[in-house]
Amino acid sequence: MKNNYILVTPIKNEEKNLPFLFKSIKEQTIKPVLWLIIDDGSSDNSTKLINEQSKKCDYIVYKRNEPQKWDLAFHYHEMLSNGFKENIIFGKFIKVDLQNKDKIEKIISEFKPDIIVHFAGLISVPDSVKKPAEYYENNFVGSLNLIESAIKNNIKKFIFSSTAAVYGIPKNNFVAENAELNPINPYGNSKKMVEELLKDVKKVNPKFNYIILRYFNVAGSDPHMVTGNRQKVKLNLIPIIINNILNKKNEIKIFGNNWNTPDKTCIRDYIHVTDLVKAHLEVINLLDNSFIFNVGYGKGSSVLEVIEAIEKVTKTKIKRNFVARRAGDPECLIADNSKILSLTNWKPLYNNLNIIVKTAWDWENKNL
Ligand SMILES: NC(=O)c1ccc[n+]([C@@H]2O[C@H](COP(=O)([O-])OP(=O)(O)OC[C@H]3O[C@@H](n4cnc5c(N)ncnc54)[C@H](O)[C@@H]3O)[C@@H](O)[C@H]2O)c1
Repeated sequence: MKNNYILVTPIKNEEKNLPFLFKSIKEQTIKPVLWLIIDDGSSDNSTKLINEQSKKCDYIVYKRNEPQKWDLAFHYHEMLSNGFKENIIFGKFIKVDLQNKDKIEKIISEFKPDIIVHFAGLISVPDSVKKPAEYYENNFVGSLNLIESAIKNNIKKFIFSSTAAVYGIPKNNFVAENAELNPINPYGNSKKMVEELLKDVKKVNPKFNYIILRYFNVAGSDPHMVTGNRQKVKLNLIPIIINNILNKKNEIKIFGNNWNTPDKTCIRDYIHVTDLVKAHLEVINLLDNSFIFNVGYGKGSSVLEVIEAIEKVTKTKIKRNFVARRAGDPECLIADNSKILSLTNWKPLYNNLNIIVKTAWDWENKNL
């Protein structure tokens, strides 16, 4: 018999029940079969409990107000090419490369999850331009293996981390989900191919449902400082600048100062990672159907605005080194997020560049 426990983390209106629940779990007057996670598990109470109990726990199940409606077991599969095992603070971890089809098949058939949330992938646009085959193989073939195993094992719910890069250079500044997909780099194209695969698979497996989340620029760290950005190679603007400051190199390369934007630098929609996580939790409720959602704030910030926010938060002057434009960069990418706002209860909480930068800075300092 597995020694599993329950964890309930505060969702606003359930907060008052927590002390009772925590006490009951500790005293073992409640012995639930699985842990329950509500929200991102980062509140004070939930963190303490996770840390205390995590070693005993095999599966973490996320449930909300309507426990019968759905549940999700956390079981992490990673190859750690750009991740860290220490990031996984609860749940079961298996090191595996998605390209290892047999191993993936074995894991999925043994575990038979209710829902697969597929985050894994290589994520650098410039790298993908240099090494296209590697990106297609890793991101497309890896996803194909996982999706095939899902179908074979009758798993009907699938969430896929896609990207705004599938749009390429959009015709409008605010890009909606039904805009033309025209990726301009192998990274974006590899994600578009997986999107198409999911749609085709759905046609012949009507009970299979997917949600494709097209993330815009994910940034920031958990405000409770339980988890945060940790990449072997810093790939995104905010972590790169912060890392430079911490290494006493107060400068940043800016790719192009001749874009058709107000300050001539590229514009992106930066979304706080906690809001992104919450978007996943919201869309789970819709998995009796298939959807595609943009996940962004619908607000753009230029490279120079990001630098200014970092200067303000870190009280450090950063030298701007303008260099030539980089292959595969679109000028402006801002989410039209009206679809996710209207079809789910997603309510972004950290829609503020200063908060995004501050949490990223605090996290990096915490980990010095
Ligand atoms: N960070 C962003 O701004 C952003 C934007 C849009 C989309 N996304 C997507 O979100 C997902 C997560 O990105 P992230 O920012 O956390 O990047 P990340 O590099 O921190 O995480 C990706 C993880 O996937 C793992 N991985 C890669 N190939 C794998 C394979 N073949 N088998 C098993 N694991 C593999 C890596 O080890 C890495 O830890 C990716 O799919 C990415 O394309 C991210």
